[in-house]
Amino acid sequence: MTSKEIRSKFLDFFKEKSHKIVPSAPMVIKDDPTLMFTNAGMNQFKEFFLGNSVIKNPRIADTQKCLRVSGKHNDLEEVGKDTYHHTMFEMLGNWSFGDYFKEEAINWAWEFLTEVCKIDKNSIYVSVFEGSLDSDKLEMDMEAFNLWKSIVPEDRIIRGDKKDNFWEMGEQGPCGPSSEIHVDIRSKEEKEKIDGASLVNKDHPEVVEIWNLVFIQYNRKANGTLEPLPEKHVDTGMGFERLCMVLQGVQSNYDTDIFTPLIREIETITNTTYGKNEETDIAIRVIADHIRAVAFSIADGQLPSNTGAGYVIRRILRRAIRYGFTFLDTKNPFMFRLVNALVASMVEAFPELKEQRNLIENVIREEEHSFLRTLEQGLLLLDGIIDSTTGDTVNGKKAFELYDTYGFPIDLTALILSEKGLKLDESGFELAMKEQKDRSKAASEVSKDDWTVLMEDAVQEFVGYDFLKAQVKLVKYRKVVSKKEGSLFQLVFNLTPFYPEGGGQVGDKGYLEVPNGDVVYILDTKKENNEIIHFSKNLPKHPNEVLTAVVDKKQRERTARNHTATHLLHQALREVLGNHVEQKGSAVHSKYLRFDFSHFAKMTIEQLRDVENFVNMRI
Ligand code: ALA
Repeated sequence: MTSKEIRSKFLDFFKEKSHKIVPSAPMVIKDDPTLMFTNAGMNQFKEFFLGNSVIKNPRIADTQKCLRVSGKHNDLEEVGKDTYHHTMFEMLGNWSFGDYFKEEAINWAWEFLTEVCKIDKNSIYVSVFEGSLDSDKLEMDMEAFNLWKSIVPEDRIIRGDKKDNFWEMGEQGPCGPSSEIHVDIRSKEEKEKIDGASLVNKDHPEVVEIWNLVFIQYNRKANGTLEPLPEKHVDTGMGFERLCMVLQGVQSNYDTDIFTPLIREIETITNTTYGKNEETDIAIRVIADHIRAVAFSIADGQLPSNTGAGYVIRRILRRAIRYGFTFLDTKNPFMFRLVNALVASMVEAFPELKEQRNLIENVIREEEHSFLRTLEQGLLLLDGIIDSTTGDTVNGKKAFELYDTYGFPIDLTALILSEKGLKLDESGFELAMKEQKDRSKAASEVSKDDWTVLMEDAVQEFVGYDFLKAQVKLVKYRKVVSKKEGSLFQLVFNLTPFYPEGGGQVGDKGYLEVPNGDVVYILDTKKENNEIIHFSKNLPKHPNEVLTAVVDKKQRERTARNHTATHLLHQALREVLGNHVEQKGSAVHSKYLRFDFSHFAKMTIEQLRDVENFVNMRI
């Protein structure tokens, strides 16, 4: 089967089992402070698990583009060195929201793998959670164990600890015990020599986990405790690239038809051959993997930048450029030339790639240009450092400066030094790094109390389109302390006229009037997950009283006007520059607006004037 056929088989299988097939959510996440990128298929359903959103379809399946390069799930350093980890990968998943549970999840997974995909039953191992003795005090998952026992011989059921068999989305959020499915694709001779069961979860490239069935039962709270959820859910995730590896009878994800077109293209462009030399192979795999992560992120609107998610993307792209520079001798931009091949092979499942192809190519080419310049400059500076070194060890602080100020990668420094018979003072480097981290941590540190809840089960209502003033009651509050903003209270009301920051528009400011006439100022309003959160310096004296919430009308109206103006500006840019112009971000304040958009050249004076005229005419 081709990868396209495999993807369809999965979705068709679950469609037949009454699942609604939904599109992948974006890979870049904008409104969840606990997560930068989608790291699992379940992210987009987080609120269903927690019981915060109304469930329309209790059964869903999809293929989700995921990125595991930061936070709890981070595979970046593995990628390229092995043959089965990726930065960006597709996760095939099926979900039950309070509907079916372990029995169906396990039986259907088995049916799909052995009957639809016809994987040899004797090559499959499964694992179940063995329980934990730590503060969570969780029992062994006997239900899953017994269900598997009626399907596979007991010696193929492995008991796993929390690390392998208790899945958590991040430091907080929905979680539960899991049951993994592993496939042993070694040759017959190898299988006879070593029992596959002993290789499960041991980083063996040919005994790999392909599917994880998670039984979501708890919510991990900010204070670290587990809270049982009112309903039980199923969350499964199968590594699409690994499934393709198994079904296409190859030993590496990179030998599937998902990657071979990219690898052929890299071979042509760099005049190398894959499969001849380990160092070159790693570089080729890194590039084939990273181009996907970067292209998909750009298509999702996340351009490389110096902060946050943009910085993560920049680092991935630079990692690939550097591998090319060092091991494939690529001294000119080349990664942007892979975009065509990528688009051709993925366009059916992910049409957004094609729509954004020009932007993706241009952004990558620009990044390549500037980073290659950095590399060349860095090499010169490093030469200078080497010249001024007496003895055989290069000062760690200077190497750190090169890394920190000029963006010159430290492993490249170490490599070049070792080629010249020199050493890097690693502890000096680490120390300088730690000092810098401490400085930036101190600048942003945040501590959050748990919520104090005054009204259970309150459902929050937003009335701010119709009213700028409303009678409200406090549902819950907590204190948040950050170095930057000091100590603030976060307040959630049963109903609110305050518009939360969103779509680039700043949150409302205003005040709360207390019955005795006192006021509490609302300094900002934001949305976190599904809740509108109001920020204040202090609390109302009697938090249970009815309060009058009043929005600062002037600020709201000015902001609303600027918001309208962003739409006019967007339209004007499309008229003047062309329909490729896409909004890439915006900041709408009461006094000004900023509008980010994609275009490949600097605008001319005439174009600026035309845009201005267009907007002013409409106003
Ligand atoms: N959410 C589970 C995982 O990512 C299925 O492994």
